[in-house]
Amino acid sequence: MRGRIPLGALLGLPLALGPLAWPERPARAQADTAAQPAETPEVLPPGEAREDVFYACTACHSTAVIRRSRLSRQQWDDLMDWMAEKHGMNPLEGEQRRQIVDYLATAFPASSGRRRAGNPFLTD
Ligand code: HEC
Repeated sequence: MRGRIPLGALLGLPLALGPLAWPERPARAQADTAAQPAETPEVLPPGEAREDVFYACTACHSTAVIRRSRLSRQQWDDLMDWMAEKHGMNPLEGEQRRQIVDYLATAFPASSGRRRAGNPFLTD
């Protein structure tokens, strides 16, 4: 019997991995990612909280809606409340929230004239 993998383990594995592979992903707001290749954190500009932002935000939509936005720090902060209250994002608190808002305000600052809001191809 040694070396044989029980059938039950083979059948159980995908079920056990299922919830890990598909973290809470509401049906809404999926349309804009459906036809696009999978994204990785590197599509966002480098920064301390890049991975936090990537994983907190792409549960529901691609980074495109983030990358095309140019907001002040206050507006990014307000947006975090809006995402949580209106769209059901897990509320961001404390240090993590500060880092995420700092990152967003630095990477995607209010339009300076040089970078125009609304162009998803400007990613620098
Ligand atoms: C629980 C789901 C969910 C999460 C998590 C989430 N969002 Fe959203 N977000 C939405 C929905 C729904 C919309 C509106 C529909 C759309 O534009 O696709 C939206 C829209 C946006 C927009 C566009 C706002 C506009 O001007 O129309 C921005 C920017 C945005 N989200 C940023 C973020 C950031 C940054 C994070 C992570 C910190 C985040 N979202 C996490 C659901 C979510």
